[in-house]
Amino acid sequence: MKHHLAAVGDRIFSSISHIADWRWYNDPLGAAPRASAEEYTRLFQAARKAEYSQIDALESEIGFSIDREWMDSLALHTQITVKKSDLAYPHGRILYSLLRKYIAEHPGEYITIIETGTARGFSILCMAKALMDGGAQGRLITLDVLPHHQKMYWNCIDDSQGRKTRAELLSPWSDLLKYVVFVQGDSLLQLPKVGVDRVNFAFIDAQHTKKNVLLEYQAVSKLQEKGDVIVFDDVTPGTFDGVVEAVKDIDTGGRYTMRYLTASKQRAYAWGTKT
Ligand SMILES: C[S@@+](CC[C@H](N)C(=O)[O-])C[C@H]1O[C@@H](n2cnc3c(N)ncnc32)[C@H](O)[C@@H]1O
Repeated sequence: MKHHLAAVGDRIFSSISHIADWRWYNDPLGAAPRASAEEYTRLFQAARKAEYSQIDALESEIGFSIDREWMDSLALHTQITVKKSDLAYPHGRILYSLLRKYIAEHPGEYITIIETGTARGFSILCMAKALMDGGAQGRLITLDVLPHHQKMYWNCIDDSQGRKTRAELLSPWSDLLKYVVFVQGDSLLQLPKVGVDRVNFAFIDAQHTKKNVLLEYQAVSKLQEKGDVIVFDDVTPGTFDGVVEAVKDIDTGGRYTMRYLTASKQRAYAWGTKT
């Protein structure tokens, strides 16, 4: 009887949570493939040729750089989409280099990494690779409203094989997935509830409004110590002014030393190191 009641309770809870998250369970990225595999491949061949001299310089300065072939093959499945803005994924290079540097400067430390905005999993796997290549102990936690175990079209090359879960999409990278916890939910609600007492390295890339970026920053910042790092995507004036304003406010606050990198007209980044 007790067992039966618990099972009924589980079913009710699961139904309520599915109603609340309904839109994320019903093809949120499209009810059919947006393009053929050939078209995604064509977009990929164009995107991979892009050059970013500022990022070349950063990699030289830091002394760590991601394996470009590895990153390109991950990007083909997780970054090449049909969209209006330029296809570009230089943030994989930045995240990898900065995290390798952090690991090298913190030998023997257990490293906790948090990302808001998983999407298809590109950036979290670039950071997982840095953790593995750097020989560090640690874990990565990534949050998104999109579910991990729901089959859907992802607006990517894999769509020609039918709907997949994110877990299936990323299964070729199983060596890295063992480091990653995928959390579904609104970052503003979930982030303060993540039960870690330190965030060594964070990547803020969910909803690109000033309010969201500042609230996510606050949740992360209170768990960071001197030298810990927070990276912001899309600090791009004219395109994401809310992100630009939020980062400016954080910079003015003086608790982080901020650096900025403009990769192209459509792609700019910033990262702060806690003082
Ligand atoms: C720009 S994409 C993230 C890209 C990813 N970091 C990468 O580089 O591969 C933004 C993601 O944030 C998610 N998102 C937007 N608002 C959110 C929120 N309030 N809470 C959690 N996730 C959110 C979207 O579903 C989307 O997948």
